[in-house]
Amino acid sequence: MLEVDDLSISFGGLDALSGLGFSVAEREIFALIGPNGAGKSTVFNVITGLYRPSRGRVVLAGEDLLALASHQVARRGVARTFQNTEVFRRLSALDNVLVGRHAHLRAGAIRAALGLGAVRREEAEARRFARTLLARFGLEDVADTESGSLPLGLQKRLEIARALASGPRLVLLDEPAGGLNQTETQTLMEIIRRLRDESGLTIVVVEHDMELVMGISDRVAVLDRGRKIAEGTPREIAADATVVEAYLGSGSDA
Ligand SMILES: Nc1ncnc2c1ncn2[C@@H]1O[C@H](COP(=O)(O)OP(=O)(O)OP(=O)(O)O)[C@@H](O)[C@H]1O
Ligand SMILES: [Mg+2]
Repeated sequence: MLEVDDLSISFGGLDALSGLGFSVAEREIFALIGPNGAGKSTVFNVITGLYRPSRGRVVLAGEDLLALASHQVARRGVARTFQNTEVFRRLSALDNVLVGRHAHLRAGAIRAALGLGAVRREEAEARRFARTLLARFGLEDVADTESGSLPLGLQKRLEIARALASGPRLVLLDEPAGGLNQTETQTLMEIIRRLRDESGLTIVVVEHDMELVMGISDRVAVLDRGRKIAEGTPREIAADATVVEAYLGSGSDA
């Protein structure tokens, strides 16, 4: 589904990624871990077309993504969430999902040409879809609540629901468990598993919470200062001395 090859990018004199490569199979949950500043979010920013690498390739189901602008990458079926939760705080949970859905629907001019009736039907269909999606995330009771007033755990779930509204095949989650307590993290793990098992999605997750990483990932790649230092099953990674060194050496609490 996703192939990243020989990716390099620097900021000023800093090599944020150096010759990074990995590939993710369809319906796989693939984790990217590593100390702060290792380059994990940068990988997502390159895949989604926000950053241009100086070298390398990113291929989604056979198509080169690096030739595309960010919105075109989204249209190819790549959705993401951000490390700093970014729901539209003044909008209801339902409207947040609708915004994600509309990015996917026909362009305004074409919609207008369809006539009011068709647009209304499409709108009603979008609302039904959004409510179903909210229910899948246990958010049906807060559908009409202003998103900014929701607890962080629900905001993070809502952000994933909004990402899914566009009907992606690849989902990139940047620290979905950041700031969550253990119960919220457990619920989230269950949700992510279901995205793969029931919706057939391919998922790349960046996360510091090792319980989540070890609990849901099929494979894990470890980055340190822009380079991949290890890759394997959660069990292999947990037993890898280089990985332990990278974390302890950096003073990370993970
Ligand atoms: N737009 C940018 N301009 C300058 N430097 C950047 C930019 N984006 C990332 N960097 C630098 O690249 C390095 C990797 O950053 P990145 O955000 O990818 O790390 P990360 O692995 O996601 O870390 P964390 O776990 O703290 O989120 C860091 O040193 C960061 O300061
Ligand atoms: Mg990051």
